[in-house]
Amino acid sequence: MQRTLVIIKPDAVNRSLVGEVIKKFENKGLKILGMKMVMLQPYTLKEHYAHHKDKKFFKELISYMSSIPSIAVVLYGKEAVDVVRKMVGSTQGREANPGTIRGDYSISNQNNIVHASEDIEIAEEEISRFFKEDEIFEYAKMNFDWIYSKDEQYLEK
Ligand code: CMP
Repeated sequence: MQRTLVIIKPDAVNRSLVGEVIKKFENKGLKILGMKMVMLQPYTLKEHYAHHKDKKFFKELISYMSSIPSIAVVLYGKEAVDVVRKMVGSTQGREANPGTIRGDYSISNQNNIVHASEDIEIAEEEISRFFKEDEIFEYAKMNFDWIYSKDEQYLEK
């Protein structure tokens, strides 16, 4: 099983889409390990988006992401990183496939509703950037017995 980080961005909060987005992840069978509203600070965002620092949209990206609060979420499940990336869809809202979160709810390159970690290593790095370990919860979720086979739950990674 894997953990991954999702940020439900300021445009989704502003457009009252938080519940819609969370519902999709819950419906899929992903487990919420942590969730909180956060006012993202420019210094944290500059670190988070450091790989985009030379892009011409960088300044506006930081300003948009720090404009109003976001919702940070840690999700857990089998191959959660890839599963969530597929559900989120491609970066540009206009190009994202219908049925994906960005494809259904966004029409912008920047205001694209959610951020999702790119790979397993980055996911753990991002989780530790936005969450303290005591904000992430270990708990039994009975419906996992119906979401996964026993082998999937206990034997495989
Ligand atoms: P995210 O997946 O969080 O990663 C980088 C973010 O930069 C991306 O979502 C968008 O919000 C933003 N972004 C990516 N491409 C562009 C672009 N061409 N113009 C403006 N913003 C962009």
